Amino acid sequence: MIRIYKILQRIFVIALITSCSPEIKETPDQGKHELEKRVTELLNKMSLDEKIGQMSQIDPGMVGSDEDIEQAVREGRYGSFLNLLGAERVNELQKIAVEESRLGIPLIFARDVIHGFKTIFPIPLGMAASWNPEIVKKAFRISAIEASSVGIKWTFAPMIDITWDPRWGRIAESCGEDPYLASVLSKAMVEGIQGEDLTDPTSVAACAKHYVGYGFSEAGRDYNTTYISESLLRNVVLKPFKAAQKAGALTFMSAFNDLNGVPTSGNKFTLRQILRNEWNYDGMVVSDWASVEEMISHGFCADKKEAALKAIQAGVDMEMASDTYSNHIADLLAEGEIDIKLIDEAVKNILRVKIKLGLFENPYIELKAGQKILNKEFLAHAQTVARESIVLLKNEKKTLPLSEDIKSVAVIGPLADAPRDQLGTWVFDGEAKHSVTPITAIKQLLGDKKVNYAQTLKFSRDEDKSRFAKAKLAAKKSDAIVFFAGEEWILSGEGQCRGEINLPGAQTELIEELKKTGKPLVLVFMAGRPLAIGKELTMADAVLYAWHGGTMAGPAITDILFGKYAPSGKLPVTFVKGAGQIPFYYYRKNTGRPSSNKHWTHIDDISVENPQNSLGYKSHHLDYGFTPLLPFGYGLTYTTFEYADLKLSEDEITTDGSIEVSATITNTGQREATEIAQLYIRDRVGSITRPVKELKSYTRVTIKPGEKAQVKFKLTKDDLEFFNGEKIVVEAGEFDVWVGTDSDSGLHGEFSIIN
Ligand code: BGC
Repeated sequence: MIRIYKILQRIFVIALITSCSPEIKETPDQGKHELEKRVTELLNKMSLDEKIGQMSQIDPGMVGSDEDIEQAVREGRYGSFLNLLGAERVNELQKIAVEESRLGIPLIFARDVIHGFKTIFPIPLGMAASWNPEIVKKAFRISAIEASSVGIKWTFAPMIDITWDPRWGRIAESCGEDPYLASVLSKAMVEGIQGEDLTDPTSVAACAKHYVGYGFSEAGRDYNTTYISESLLRNVVLKPFKAAQKAGALTFMSAFNDLNGVPTSGNKFTLRQILRNEWNYDGMVVSDWASVEEMISHGFCADKKEAALKAIQAGVDMEMASDTYSNHIADLLAEGEIDIKLIDEAVKNILRVKIKLGLFENPYIELKAGQKILNKEFLAHAQTVARESIVLLKNEKKTLPLSEDIKSVAVIGPLADAPRDQLGTWVFDGEAKHSVTPITAIKQLLGDKKVNYAQTLKFSRDEDKSRFAKAKLAAKKSDAIVFFAGEEWILSGEGQCRGEINLPGAQTELIEELKKTGKPLVLVFMAGRPLAIGKELTMADAVLYAWHGGTMAGPAITDILFGKYAPSGKLPVTFVKGAGQIPFYYYRKNTGRPSSNKHWTHIDDISVENPQNSLGYKSHHLDYGFTPLLPFGYGLTYTTFEYADLKLSEDEITTDGSIEVSATITNTGQREATEIAQLYIRDRVGSITRPVKELKSYTRVTIKPGEKAQVKFKLTKDDLEFFNGEKIVVEAGEFDVWVGTDSDSGLHGEFSIIN
């Protein structure tokens, strides 16, 4: 009796604590435990077919009629759909999954929302040029709000492949060449997509892709082979992925490429050893589109059955688009080729994501949510991001900004009024009709009469010179020329690679003609890659690089052209002089024979009789020399900044020590502007050779004319360590440090690390 009383008393006390103390929250461990319990309980109820169903993702077009799709959902044959559109249809199918399938496991609907859903932001490479994680995070938040309003709960972003190759069309989708910048942005993108609370209706699962090394496709030809040493992989390529994992990315995507002989969708080293064993990743891995099946073409698997075997063994949880899992996993199990544990592990990874997103509690979408799309606030943010993505590459004689009181301006070129092109690649849902083009925005600002518009070339590859005379006429009667050059959207993106990366069509010839008028010549480039624009850069008085800037590219460019805002973008990638210089990235190695002006003779200056040894034996090209066209991190603005007073808190630290570095920046020009101050280091001698420079930190400061600001950085063990082929080390030795405006300049200091 007393025992029963005590038990009742305890229950009462517990109930009291629970009801009176709403502030008592689950600890992370409890939460994790509960989650795992739920996952396991559900898994235990699942049949083998249901498990395999969860591991399969399909495009509805590949299933058949609406009835076929519905029946497949009823039978639990798919865990996820990609590219299934329409809020109502999403709800209908979800209802079948929840109410008519045996276990009621909700579906997860996925789609590529790479740089905006309906409100299109600049291509990711453009966003990267802002170096601004806050605005990038908000852009991805907006994309998630819009996409989730029609039922998309999983997006295949962020794309965080490091690349050194502007021929590769997918450079447009990337954050560029630098592992540090890409890591900062990777975190921002994941946080933006997933929001603060995963169960919020606007939260969407992120997918870090393409894991891994896809950006190193040989010759910049998409889907091509990659060879990446383990140290390059760990010191560079994996960095943004690690950042995505740390930021909580719910999913990863295995890639298309063959990495050092093992396709990445069957790669035990990258998927199992690194991602699962070293990083303890508990999210879900989806394969890229049919990349499991493509292991047959790679020559890594004899048939679909082997492809399924190798993918599941490596750790691909869900197969996208191809059907090797649905057709062969059961046989592989029956034949003892795989253990049920392997299947269970994959299914658990998938269920965990669905539970974390709250899909079991809130499987449906609110139909009115779609009204949030393309609203004023979103468009304003698209304009902000587009503005901050613009990089000023040249500004002779302060040609820019143009005065709003200018009497007349000639607006010329194929990209001045190209609403679809300015959206860029990877736009499935954004519509050209919502784009505000440069010509519209400039006319809005100046009024129609002041603008002499001559498109002249109808598209970027247009070779027709018949309208050149008209363009020259427009230029002659104007006070300045603004030429909108670049590439159509279709020339970059997946599968859209180029061997040459010059300005296509007759654009350069047209610019040459316009130059002859003697009028101030402003070039605005709108492109999906860093083009080789040396010739055009020389001809122009001022140059803006505006990428494909999205829905609001026109107003953003106009803001910069006419000085409403001072540009602040910096290049997230090195600009090369020509395709033959690729790869050329700022964190290259010094080589045994670094070149210099002293050692290099331009090809045109070499006399015919030159003897064998006259040119020296240094690392350069006779035509391109040894420097790029423009360095990583480069970007001007409408004022000038001077760096001074570099200070290091220590000149010697131990391997686990840290150093504070500061400098003073003075705005020596006439207007307020934002500078992105960058800190680079060089580890002079290492157990493996180290890059000539590595970005380790940066900060943004807005400074009024005549004023100063101090910028401070902290270098810690994390910044100084590297993988030396065997392990992660911080090595004793001498280091250089620079603080400056780009990767090719800066105040210089030194410090040492001692054991
Ligand atoms: C691309 C991925 C994309 C997937 C789904 C593939 O072709 O490589 O980046 O997420 O398709 O659309």
